[in-house]
Amino acid sequence: MPSTDSVSTPSLTTRVVRRLARSLENLGSAKRGFKRAWPHIDGIEGYLDSPGQEEWLYQSVLGLPDPAVIVEIGSFKGRSTACIGYACRGTGKRVFAIDTFAGNDSDFRDGSEFTRGPYFDEFWGNLNRLELTDYVTPLCGLSADIAQIWRTPIDLLFIDGSHEFPDVLADFENFFPWVREGGIVSFHDVEPLWPGPWKVWNEVAAPQLVARGSCSTIAFGRKPVV
Ligand SMILES: C[S@@+](CC[C@H](N)C(=O)[O-])C[C@H]1O[C@@H](n2cnc3c(N)ncnc32)[C@H](O)[C@@H]1O
Repeated sequence: MPSTDSVSTPSLTTRVVRRLARSLENLGSAKRGFKRAWPHIDGIEGYLDSPGQEEWLYQSVLGLPDPAVIVEIGSFKGRSTACIGYACRGTGKRVFAIDTFAGNDSDFRDGSEFTRGPYFDEFWGNLNRLELTDYVTPLCGLSADIAQIWRTPIDLLFIDGSHEFPDVLADFENFFPWVREGGIVSFHDVEPLWPGPWKVWNEVAAPQLVARGSCSTIAFGRKPVV
């Protein structure tokens, strides 16, 4: 015969302690997950401030609801895409990687939209080697052109494409309406050295976001829930 104690509802303290233990366990497993992925991510050329920004991307995607839609503007050879892709593994989370894959968007200003630039194969080869292609959809072309056909709610937007002020502004203004309430908006290279992202973040994006923070030169915040 079980004692009444063994069938009674756990006390508030017990529940809080259990929840805390579970959170610490999840945190530990997230840290271990990134540690395992890191040598593979670090094998890809890219521009992030290592390893903090790579881990920020990984952990932010891990924290999203499942399923989730992530939009990355500016993928280059896939370093940031791989951070996101690793956090999508085994889930319904997917990243849409927007880039001309040309390095220089001026090559794409004359009607050659939706064409792959010269390093697309290296980008895709990197993700293929890491077995992440199931989680990544590349969208080849100028972000401004892709914005014209984009129609899907976004859980996390990462802006790291052209760093020219009008282009960064257009990336934010074109995709922000698609970010869900409570969704994350983030920019890379938010520092005075890069006046484009710096000005768009400080003058346009930050005032429209809550729960703002930063990880080195990544600035981020959430779209308010109204
Ligand atoms: C700083 S790199 C991105 C770095 C990448 N996130 C990483 O982790 O290494 C910027 C990328 O944006 C792309 N890009 C520049 N202007 C663009 C535009 N207007 N539309 C789409 N992609 C663009 C370039 O081809 C380049 O690969």
